[in-house]
Amino acid sequence: MSSTLVTGARVLGGEPTDLLLTDGRIAAVGPGLSAEGAEVVDATGLVALPGLVDLHTHLREPGREDAETVETGTQAAARGGFTAVFAMANTFPVADTAGVVEQVKRLGDEAGWAEVRPVGAVTVGLAGRQLAELGAMADSAAGVRVFSDDGHCVSDAVLMRRALEYVKAFDGVIAQHAQEPRLTEDAQMNEGTVSAVLGLRGWPSVAEEAVIARDVLLADHVGSRLHVCHVSTAGSVEILRWAKARGVQVTAEVTPHHLLLTDELARSYDPVYKVNPPLRTQADVEAVREGLADGTIDIVATDHAPHPLEDKDCEWAAAAMGMTGLETALSVVQHAMVDTGLLTWAQVADRMSAAPARIGRLAGQGEPLAPGSAANLVLVDPAARWTVDPAQMATSGRNSPFRGMDLPGRVVATVLRGRPTVLDSHLVRSTP
Ligand code: DOR
Repeated sequence: MSSTLVTGARVLGGEPTDLLLTDGRIAAVGPGLSAEGAEVVDATGLVALPGLVDLHTHLREPGREDAETVETGTQAAARGGFTAVFAMANTFPVADTAGVVEQVKRLGDEAGWAEVRPVGAVTVGLAGRQLAELGAMADSAAGVRVFSDDGHCVSDAVLMRRALEYVKAFDGVIAQHAQEPRLTEDAQMNEGTVSAVLGLRGWPSVAEEAVIARDVLLADHVGSRLHVCHVSTAGSVEILRWAKARGVQVTAEVTPHHLLLTDELARSYDPVYKVNPPLRTQADVEAVREGLADGTIDIVATDHAPHPLEDKDCEWAAAAMGMTGLETALSVVQHAMVDTGLLTWAQVADRMSAAPARIGRLAGQGEPLAPGSAANLVLVDPAARWTVDPAQMATSGRNSPFRGMDLPGRVVATVLRGRPTVLDSHLVRSTP
């Protein structure tokens, strides 16, 4: 029997208490628990949250191991406090068959840093023409429940309708990358004042909003579950608010970068700020923050999108879209949402752990820190500050838009089924 006693942790930011972890489960929670036979981890001053769950991660393997591997990506996840990640389907080959999703799951199990749940493609090769084998992926050993063509929009309304209908049979969800393709041809950044000044082709908000509006109506019509990836505009929040009030089964995510950064950063012409959907305006940032606070937006998801240097260190128009995010997510959320009084730590646990696990139908993750739950948790030092340095990160991607920023909150331990994947040695007091 292996036991760890975590002492003095502020569970969900509350009063200090102890947690006894035994054989991968939480055995007891309460002040003054006995340390007999247990390794002791001193969590005085630290906030304990359930292990974070990322519904939107690009691990790049198979096929783009030059950008990231399951090993490096999931190690980055652990460092960021995540105990589970959903791996997006835009790999090479695309994760559109049972064989590929099973391979991704196996690679995750072997790496052991975090639970890996593959996302299956909605359409064959992400080409938007023909539905992929959704049922076979759902029935496979990978047990896929989330399907997405992320990076591409399922823009054909008939295909989207069929996909929504199909996944009802196994309680799946379609995660839509909302981007009307004709309105965004060759688009480089948010359409607005900054794009006009820079002379870069604009990407209008309506290209996102029009697809979300259509899809919530479709989801309502067929009575199925829709999830909206990386919501970035004030108008999208308004549509989602309307749809939820109407009872549509829709959930939505926002990324850490859309909670903090604006299109003003593009004035540098530094492609580290090039991303899909693009960084928007300050008014949009305020609207997505408000949406996350009031529950219109259900979760934070990173859209961690590592790229090799040569794909980012080039002129803006030629650069790949995407930003890394796993190792900075919790700090950015603390900075943008907790330290501003918009979210409590308990709400952070909901938005970054319980709700994403629920949307992805992932059992054993996102459970409350209570006796009987799987021992998946993160300890964060909310008083610490650090300067983001991509060279120190576990991800192979160096494309962090937060580089050089001074951020609050440090993940000092991550525990996956009772086993630390990250543990600051200063916390360990004694071993049995
Ligand atoms: O910026 C992005 N990068 N957005 C996406 O939707 C895809 C992602 C990627 O795969 O690089």
